[in-house]
Amino acid sequence: MFRAASPAGLLLLASALAAHAGGDPALGKHVFNRCIACHEAATDRDKVGPHLMGVVGRTAGSAESFLGHYSEAMKSAGAAGLVWNEANLAEYLKAPKLKVPGNKMAFGGLTSDDDIANVIAYLKADPKP
Ligand code: HEC
Repeated sequence: MFRAASPAGLLLLASALAAHAGGDPALGKHVFNRCIACHEAATDRDKVGPHLMGVVGRTAGSAESFLGHYSEAMKSAGAAGLVWNEANLAEYLKAPKLKVPGNKMAFGGLTSDDDIANVIAYLKADPKP
């Protein structure tokens, strides 16, 4: 008789597939613990930083609820065409101050390329709490 795959099996499969695409959202959820003091990703609630729900593909400095709080640097970067695709996110998370000079994210950056790929995979996966 046909037996449906267990949810755990599906999760494993999903993360194996995602790992092939570059990052692992499950591992990325742990990396996100380093962002969580300032960012929510599973809801659109802003903290010290803008919410990151749906940030992959979003124009920099454009979360409506945070418009009054972005630095001028971040808003101008978005106005100049900066979109948070995976390549731009990877550069920003590695060296925030180099990618967007003058932005006010008080975070030194992630040093591990794996951590960066995994946290981007997590942000892309439409994270739920
Ligand atoms: C100490 C607080 C803090 C930490 C920790 C932090 N951020 Fe930020 N982040 C901010 C602030 C503040 C901004 C807005 C910067 C500006 O307007 O110049 C920001 C902006 C961003 C943006 C641009 C969002 C947009 O709408 O344009 C992204 C993406 C981002 N952070 C991702 C991350 C990730 C991923 C991590 C963890 C690896 C992280 N941040 C850690 C405070 C933080």
